[in-house]
Amino acid sequence: VGRSIYLDHNATAPLLPEAWAAMQAARETAWANPSSVHGPGRQARAVVEAARADVAALLGAEREEIVFTSGGTEADHLGIRGLAWTEAARRGLAPGSGARPRVVASRIEHPAVTGAVRALEDEGFEVAWIRADDAGRVAPAGVEALLDGRTVLVTLALANHELGTEQDLAAVAEAAHARGALVHTDAVQAVGRVSVDVRALGADAVALSAHKLGGPKGTGALWLRPGLAARPLIAGGHQEHERRAGTENVLGIAGFGAACRVVARGLAEWAAHLAKLQDRLEAGLLAVPGSRRNGPERGRAPGTSNVAFGGAPGQLVMIGLDLEGICVSTGAACTSGSIEPSSVLLALGQTPEAAREAVRFSLGPSSTLEDVDEVLRVVPEVVRRVRAAV
Ligand SMILES: Cc1ncc(COP(=O)(O)O)c(C=O)c1O
Repeated sequence: VGRSIYLDHNATAPLLPEAWAAMQAARETAWANPSSVHGPGRQARAVVEAARADVAALLGAEREEIVFTSGGTEADHLGIRGLAWTEAARRGLAPGSGARPRVVASRIEHPAVTGAVRALEDEGFEVAWIRADDAGRVAPAGVEALLDGRTVLVTLALANHELGTEQDLAAVAEAAHARGALVHTDAVQAVGRVSVDVRALGADAVALSAHKLGGPKGTGALWLRPGLAARPLIAGGHQEHERRAGTENVLGIAGFGAACRVVARGLAEWAAHLAKLQDRLEAGLLAVPGSRRNGPERGRAPGTSNVAFGGAPGQLVMIGLDLEGICVSTGAACTSGSIEPSSVLLALGQTPEAAREAVRFSLGPSSTLEDVDEVLRVVPEVVRRVRAAV
């Protein structure tokens, strides 16, 4: 079996050695329950709190503003459902009180977000869906048009998981705040790729996931603006200052903190490296006859190239590349096992046939020029074979 080339970093990043080392160290020093008062418990608490400081530092935040969760999905749910319920209740708009609070969400969100928004809809919230243009950009004016006096929350991902498209969140937040609505952003695909400073961002809640930036799976965090409360999703113990019950995933959190330290040190250099590789990769992919880019040319988080090869179903291209040891995907990992076309591309107005042709190449810090050149050597032949077979 030859070496595989991994260009699916938007699905997950390989665990960083520093994260694994921190997890192994935590096994020795932080095996106890961090809520226990005895010495080993206090040692485990120290590890959790040091990691919280590392996560906070990466975001320009304070330690106590970070709530650890079981990953990006839970962070999105806490930031969306938790905040929407608390805010609706605070404003006397909670469903059941005769009011119908509104939540505004984009049509191109990750299933973690749409799942949370649909749960609110089931609970009696009204949802207004924002359109994106054909490159996946959401116009702040379009959001503004959907805000009304009952709007409690706007949710919009900072960088799209399939296209990499970045949004003008500051402008969206300004408009939302002017109408009294809070703003949640799924920054899962942005943190680790672009610099995210929560104070400058303007959002009230920011969700992130450890495994997209080199930490372990099953750990994530929500940043919450000081003074804001989000109704907990899970009732139980007093962990996370009553914001998320359940004994903390100490080893996972230790790995998450270590990954954040690595990202904080390496981000500027990685971004330049990724941008260079991406330019070369994309120029090569777009030189394949009949190919086209999904997403904008500029204004993307570095690393994501979504390209369709006309007449070649993306699933078959992905499988053909896999046989050559090259790992890519056709969209969100959660949906890529299905033959349904990408909901993101459909929301941009693409036909199901066109959307089914998408292939997502996502680079990471450990990707190399040799990887890119090998992919560019193999792709034209795989696309030719697929086209000939369908
Ligand atoms: C944009 C986005 N949001 C949320 C998630 C979910 O994160 P997690 O896998 O940690 O639950 C992912 C990754 O799958 C993602 O890409």
